[in-house]
Amino acid sequence: MDGVKHIVAVASGKGGVGKSTVTVNLALALSAQGYRVGVLDADIYGPSQAQMLGVEEGVRPQAAADNKFLPLEAHGIQAMSMAFMVNTRDAMVWRGPMVVGAFQQMLTQTQWDNLDFLLIDMPPGTGDIQLTLAQKVPVSGAVIVTTPQDIALLDARKGIEMFRKVNVPVLGVVENMSLYHCEKCGHEAAIFGTGGGDRIAEEYDTTVLGRLPLTLSIRELADSGRPSVVSEPDSAVSRTFAEIASQVAQSVSASQSGGPTISFSE
Ligand SMILES: Nc1ncnc2c1ncn2[C@@H]1O[C@H](COP(=O)(O)OP(=O)(O)O)[C@@H](O)[C@H]1O
Ligand SMILES: [Mg+2]
Ligand SMILES: [Zn+2]
Repeated sequence: MDGVKHIVAVASGKGGVGKSTVTVNLALALSAQGYRVGVLDADIYGPSQAQMLGVEEGVRPQAAADNKFLPLEAHGIQAMSMAFMVNTRDAMVWRGPMVVGAFQQMLTQTQWDNLDFLLIDMPPGTGDIQLTLAQKVPVSGAVIVTTPQDIALLDARKGIEMFRKVNVPVLGVVENMSLYHCEKCGHEAAIFGTGGGDRIAEEYDTTVLGRLPLTLSIRELADSGRPSVVSEPDSAVSRTFAEIASQVAQSVSASQSGGPTISFSE
């Protein structure tokens, strides 16, 4: 893909587990480590990235040459989302082929500027968008987001199996909302159970990249357009995102420099 070195999908089987929150914070963590990063919001019906990146309603991407669009910039990363094209207050009533068409256009007509990583914030499920992505562009890997809850885990399994079928390596699992952390008194509770991420990682021979607590600040900061990694760069949450980012960067470059090198000598 022009202007993009590595494509990483952030996915889950289920909605509401924190894909968009993880995508934006992971993107900002990679950016803080010196990489050039973009985010493509592939959730056509329920785009989140305008809000999470603090892009105001009505700001539109500029047209570029060759029928392309320039991504918007926020907090130092590039971004493209359906939310930049339509009024998100109007309900979108589109048939499947139109949704796939809109996704393909964003995928092929965005003029990314020299990215090391393009993170794709996937919609929930294992449907048309997921297949289109795997078929149209070379995806370096997928990060699976799950809560420790059994039902979310069942859905995460479907997500992992789908990426395997289309030969996209699963880089690991992020267990989100693992522990409720009360910011007032510091007490903690495993609202969605414990150990789910480990079980699934073991079952599918992959790793838990990180565990994020359920906290008020993660939600408030993401939903107000200044995600944890930029608002509280020294917090435990931001450190966890930095660790996830390092592992993602490492495993993507490892998987792509794994081939033999051929050299000639006299
Ligand atoms: N670890 C967390 N703690 C608290 N709230 C969270 C956490 N992760 C996500 N949220 C909130 O949960 C909601 C759903 O998250 P989102 O990232 O939009 O999920 P998805 O993209 O999987 O549908 C959002 O309001 C988000 O701010
Ligand atoms: Mg989302
Ligand atoms: Zn408390």
